[in-house]
Amino acid sequence: MIKGKFPNDKFESLETPFYYYDMELLQKTLQTITKETENRPFHVHYALKANANTRILREIASQGFGADCVSGNEILKAIECGFSPSKIAFAGVGKSDKEINIGLDNDIFCFNVESIPEIEVLNELAAKKGKIASVALRINPNVDARTHKYITTGLNENKFGINEQDLPVTLKTLSNSPNIKLIGIHFHIGSQITDLTSFEDLCVKIKLLREWFHDQGISLEIINAGGGLGINYQHPNHFPMADFESYFRLFDKHLKLEDGQSLHFELGRSLVAACGSLISRALYLKEGIQKNFLIIDAGMTDLIRPALYQAFHHVENISSDGDLNKYDVVGPICESSDTFGENITLNQSKRGDLIAIRSAGAYGETMVSKYNCRDIPKSYYSDLL
Ligand code: LLP
Repeated sequence: MIKGKFPNDKFESLETPFYYYDMELLQKTLQTITKETENRPFHVHYALKANANTRILREIASQGFGADCVSGNEILKAIECGFSPSKIAFAGVGKSDKEINIGLDNDIFCFNVESIPEIEVLNELAAKKGKIASVALRINPNVDARTHKYITTGLNENKFGINEQDLPVTLKTLSNSPNIKLIGIHFHIGSQITDLTSFEDLCVKIKLLREWFHDQGISLEIINAGGGLGINYQHPNHFPMADFESYFRLFDKHLKLEDGQSLHFELGRSLVAACGSLISRALYLKEGIQKNFLIIDAGMTDLIRPALYQAFHHVENISSDGDLNKYDVVGPICESSDTFGENITLNQSKRGDLIAIRSAGAYGETMVSKYNCRDIPKSYYSDLL
């Protein structure tokens, strides 16, 4: 059984559970993306919601990436960690006045607006400051992302985005909004998308909409295709990186840009998921009649994805190379959904063994909670241990 490489000796003295980040893998991932985008008019805005750890953000910012923020605090954090405001996109269905003002005060690149009332409020707040806000309209493309329903966002009955039939009235609102400049259109169809044909469908839709805007006499400076590229949670050791090459090639092939037009992406998970692991310790082995429960000290408060989305994370016992056995790996929280996986094959496990829950770098640390008055897990980095 191939396992991830971890500095177990250095882990021994650390209090578990904690997040461990492989900074070399993060750097390689960022370099790969840069290589795929640098000769194309493509710009990646990292979606902070996936992981807003200061160290990770500084690394991504230092490589020249932009940021995709969904709250005023994310904007402030991005700037603090070195992202240029001129590369910050601000998305979200429910931006408060306070948050819009943070965006305006920092002259961010673009507001991705999701409704007509939002345009009206943004125009009013920008007028008060004597500013012009650049916006991209988030349009609901009604494309199926073929992923979990909680992370599908581009279908018509979603709370996100403006529906196509509302576009004419949206343009009317924009023409009465002197403090807003329409620079483009924005889409996001969902997350953890591994069937790339969904992105092909998106390209088809984008082209049709671009035509429609042309017919209205509007040319678009930017097209923002959102995020969503998935990773391989099943085999993190064999596939430590998302298939960026195919992803960017697909857009190159299926969406010919016009002169001066640029294509923007808001990738979150694919940048950071693989580099993070949640390291935990086995507390108890409870041998049942038909099952063995391995109770570990990490729970859904540390990584909520399995409990919330029935998400799969590869689990490894990194202390043992004993015989293989089946375990239900569960956390200590008083909720039945606090389970990392059933019938998982692990090397013979016992109290004290270190258990790594892999691909936890995205939507792991950012979704931590203090339920049960639990401690917030610390973070360690491969180059600083
Ligand atoms: N842009 C927008 C407008 C989004 O809503 C999202 C994610 C992204 C970009 C980044 O998507 P990514 O490249 O990371 O797929 N907590 C869930 C995922 C929620 C995703 C929400 N939106 C999970 O753990 O799977």
